[in-house]
Parts: sequence; structure tokens; C-alpha cells
Amino acid sequence: MQTLAGKKILLGIGGGIAAYKCADLTRRLIERGAEVQVVMTKAAKEFITPLTMQAVSGKPVSDSLLDPAAEASMGHIELAKWADLILIAPATADLIARIASGMGNDLLTTLVLASDAPIAVSPAMNQQMYRNQATQENIATLQRRGMHIWGPASGEQACGDIGPGRMLEPMQLVEECEQFWADKPLKGLSVLITAGPTRESIDPVRYISNHSSGKMGFALAQAAVQLGASTNLVAGPVSLDTPVGANRIDVASALEMYNTVMQYAPSHDIFISCAAVADYRPESIAEQKIKKKDGNEHMTITMVKNPDIVASVANMTDARPYTVGFAAETQDVAHYARSKLSNKNLDMICANDVSIEGQGFNSNNNAVTLYWKEGEQSLTLASKQKIAQQILMCIAEKISS
Ligand code: PMT
Repeated sequence: MQTLAGKKILLGIGGGIAAYKCADLTRRLIERGAEVQVVMTKAAKEFITPLTMQAVSGKPVSDSLLDPAAEASMGHIELAKWADLILIAPATADLIARIASGMGNDLLTTLVLASDAPIAVSPAMNQQMYRNQATQENIATLQRRGMHIWGPASGEQACGDIGPGRMLEPMQLVEECEQFWADKPLKGLSVLITAGPTRESIDPVRYISNHSSGKMGFALAQAAVQLGASTNLVAGPVSLDTPVGANRIDVASALEMYNTVMQYAPSHDIFISCAAVADYRPESIAEQKIKKKDGNEHMTITMVKNPDIVASVANMTDARPYTVGFAAETQDVAHYARSKLSNKNLDMICANDVSIEGQGFNSNNNAVTLYWKEGEQSLTLASKQKIAQQILMCIAEKISS
């Protein structure tokens, strides 16, 4: 089926071993009706020849900013305007860094600067390079600017290492392109999401909190925007950039989060409670810093229960949104998740086992099982962005049926 009929894709190939997969990628995009114009970096030509890419794309390959012949046929500004989507695959650590810092020192990076087309980046590199803080910060910068990050996959690498950094397979990238142009299933709907921890003050300088980074909730907000929803994000104290297109309301304590959510919820179609809300708060907050006293080896803080935000929304009698909770469990996950689903009167719950390393709190990845009254769906380990997209697709399916 011609799922990409008439779409103009500018395929920017970076200098990584995965470049050899771009011939197959191009062929499959064209099979689905897309027009593909290939642009290669100098290093990419060490891994696959321009002649091969010209043969599969049916168009001369562009690779130089200073080529008078190429500029005469389709100049770089014209090329930047031609694209409906710029897909950069493989995107090496170096190419990502150059794009993040706004450089235009070759044709591909110049096109990225000169185009207002959406940009998708498919990282591919050694797992240690991918995990490097500099690379992670550069990827976060691209995301903040609204670029789509497709991948990487995890597994055995060309260098023999095992870990994240493999470019997505050509068919996975084709599916991402199809998904990119697919109907936006949340168009016309509004989504309210809570994210991050809460802080329960003890005195002016101390508080009780937890390890939530906000990444899962922020990924949900980003996915909701991408799927067409008008999105409000109620964020506990986290150091994350606001997803492009989402409206953010910052709060600190569970009570503040409760008040904000109860004010916003009635005007929303969907509420997702991803925040790790403190179940209890100190009964009173000392006005001055509590002093250590000689001879006092113990200190007791009396705690009182916070309102249950998600249960309060789920039990609203008027204008109740479709209500989704999370369950952070360390044992007996399915049992506790199903109990929370029914005790809190939720429509759906996303259960994550937070005892497993590499997922849950403060990780970039997660694995969750979605439970609703009549069924369940497991989402295997993937980036929080991917998991967020899958959760929202499932919610969209449920509310439209
Ligand atoms: O933020 P990250 O580092 O990305 O980590 C993501 C996460 C692990 C925090 C997230 O995936 C997650 O599991 N969030 C829910 C954490 C939690 O508080 O779970 P719980 O099982 O204790 O609570 C059940 C549900 O009740 C949750 O939807 C919670 O938001 C809600 N709740 C809890 C207490 C309360 N007073 N009000 C609530 O609304």
C-alpha cells in the first residue's frame, strides 16, 4: 500500500556503519510512494557509495555545499524547502553534536538550519558513546527543539559491545515515517498529566520526597502533543525542559498538586496521574529551621495522609475525564495494580516494576503492563518516549470504542 504517497523525504546519511542499511531504507520508502532525496556527509561516503544511493533513490546524491553543478540544479536552500521531512539516519554522535550546537559546516547540517520541515533523528553509535553525558545532553537539546528521536535499538553492536546504540532497522524507520503522517488520534481532545515527585516540607530548609525524575510524565506530555492533544502538564519539582507544545504548571507539594488538578480536571477529556505523590506529609511545618538538640538521639515527625489525587478525579460525578493511574510496585505487580484499578475507580492503570534496574524511577527506559477492567496489554522495555506513545495509543483506542 502506498502509505507514504507523495511525501518528500530528505534522507541525511551520517558516517556510521549502519549507513549500509540506507539503501534498503530508501528502497522501502520509495515502495510506499515516497520521493527520497539523499544527502550524505563526507564520512558517510566511506560506508556506502553515492552511486549506490543514486541508483536506489533514482536521484543524484547531494554531498557538497560548494558544488557549483549541484547548486545550479537544486540549490541547498531549494532542497531545504523541498522536504516534507528530514530523516537523519544514521545520526552519529558527532553529527548530533554538530546539529545541537547549530553548526552548518557541511551540506546536511546547513540544510537542518535552513529548513522548517520536521526533523527526525535516528541515533546510531557505540553504546558508551550513546550513554555519554554529552551525547545525552545533545539528544535532549534536539528533543527540546521539537526534533523527533527515533531509536536507538539495543543489542549487539558492530564493535562487539552490547547495549543501546543500534540504528533502528529500515522497516522500523518506515513505520516511524508512516506513524508520523498517520491521523492524530487525540486531535480535538485535552489531556492533563501529572509528573515528577512532590516535596513535603518539614521546615523552611528540609522536605520529604522521592526519586521520581519526571521523565515518564514528561514523555507522556510530549507524546500527547504529538498525537494532537491540547496538553496541560502539572509538574512537581524536576529539572526537565517543558515538552514543546505542552502547557506546564509547576507545583511542589501534594496539596498544591491536588488543588491544581482538581481545578483543571473538569475541563479535560483524559487525566493521567504519573506523578509519584507523597502519601503522607508532616502534620505541621516548623516556621524556623529545626535545631539539633544535645541528647536527642531520635526525632519523631507526625505525618498525616495527603488526599489521593487520582482517586479524587476518578470519583468526580460531573465532567469526569477518562482517568489513568500508574502503579509503582516492587512485588506482586499484577495483583497490586488490579487492586488500585478497582479501589481508586480508574479506567486504566499502568503498572511498572520499579525494583528492576534500568527501568522505572529516574531511568530513560521503562516497561509497563496496562490493565483495564476487561483486559491487559504488556509494553516491553523501551525508551520512555516509546512507552508513552504506546500508552496514549491504547487510551485513544479505548475512548474511541
Ligand atoms: O518520574 P520518573 O523518574 O520517570 O519515574 C516514573 C515513575 C516510576 C514515577 C512512574 O512510572 C510511576 O510509576 N508513577 C506513579 C508513582 C506512584 O506514586 O505510584 P503509587 O503506586 O504509589 O500510586 C498509585 C497512583 O496513585 C499513581 O497514579 C499516583 O500518581 C496516584 N497517587 C498516589 C498518591 C496520592 N496521594 N495521590 C495520587 O494521585
